[in-house]
Amino acid sequence: MTDTYLVTGGMGCIGAWALYHLRRSGARAVNFDQSEDRHRINWLMTAEEQAAITFVQGDLRDTDGLKAVFAEQGVTHVIHLAALQVPFCRANPVLGAQVNVTGTVNVFEAARENGVNHIAFASSIGVYGPPSDFPPGLIPNDAPKNPRTLYGAYKVCNEGTALVYYEDYGITSTALRPYTVYGVGRNQGMTSEPTKALVAAAKGQRYKIPFSGEMQFQWASDVARQFILAAQQPLAGARGFNLGGPPSNVARFAELAKDALPDAEIEVVDNPLPFPAGFDDSALRASFETVYETPLEEGIAETISHIQRLGDGIEQ
Ligand SMILES: NC(=O)c1ccc[n+]([C@@H]2O[C@H](COP(=O)([O-])OP(=O)(O)OC[C@H]3O[C@@H](n4cnc5c(N)ncnc54)[C@H](O)[C@@H]3O)[C@@H](O)[C@H]2O)c1
Repeated sequence: MTDTYLVTGGMGCIGAWALYHLRRSGARAVNFDQSEDRHRINWLMTAEEQAAITFVQGDLRDTDGLKAVFAEQGVTHVIHLAALQVPFCRANPVLGAQVNVTGTVNVFEAARENGVNHIAFASSIGVYGPPSDFPPGLIPNDAPKNPRTLYGAYKVCNEGTALVYYEDYGITSTALRPYTVYGVGRNQGMTSEPTKALVAAAKGQRYKIPFSGEMQFQWASDVARQFILAAQQPLAGARGFNLGGPPSNVARFAELAKDALPDAEIEVVDNPLPFPAGFDDSALRASFETVYETPLEEGIAETISHIQRLGDGIEQ
């Protein structure tokens, strides 16, 4: 049987990069997304390259529709990314739960019914509470999860769902918990501001990032590759991993942008986000031979040149 990767949420930032890397590797990829808006994919691939991908429009909340896609497309690998982000869950908690929680149950059910025994899916560092919950230092992989956002609560629920599907049905899963993802395509969600600043800077415009603080930045291309690896290399059980990487901060991000683009004018407002500074990724490193971690300065420089290549084709 040919390997077929189902990417849910492939019209989104990480999903578009996952489709990009899957296509480059020659794998068969199926995108499942309710949106038909290809703007992020267009920033990564030509129309000819996109022709190698199967696009299925559908809603994660549609249990039968999703099951049919698994069966019709002969899905063998799953990278489940589709979700509503923090502001959308806050604005519409019921829809947030339907998409993020029920949608994830639907993915596990569709996998179970179709004999797919492993799932890689997106969790988030949003599963953890604010810095006041923790002593200083990196937060360990098994730290208590007491989120203060509905988005975080839904992600905790998904990690629990994964555990039960392992215990009851033997379906293994790997949840990855990104922090601040940046790169071409990151134009939505609370922590998309640093990327928006790069787009503005590359276009010669000033930008004010409305928050500051310590955090870990992860390049969307690296994150997507880690999800692909997580789908390809099942581990025993239902596992969840902080993505981690070197702790940094928003001011440093702006400085590195200026190194790559000396005319960049990026202001960072002194308003730390209520998130811990960093998360320990040693569990991820112990479990995977490869951890994709492009240094921040390279990721920023590559993102700026990518934006410049796209010219008028990219907006914030
Ligand atoms: N970007 C980050 O910094 C970050 C950090 C932590 C976790 N994550 C998680 O990673 C995953 C991917 O993030 P992203 O930044 O690429 O998200 P994104 O918002 O760019 O994309 C999400 C995609 O999901 C699709 N979608 C939404 N509702 C749907 C539904 N009902 N049915 C089908 N598709 C639907 C959207 O159309 C969109 O294309 C998400 O689960 C997110 O919670 C992202």
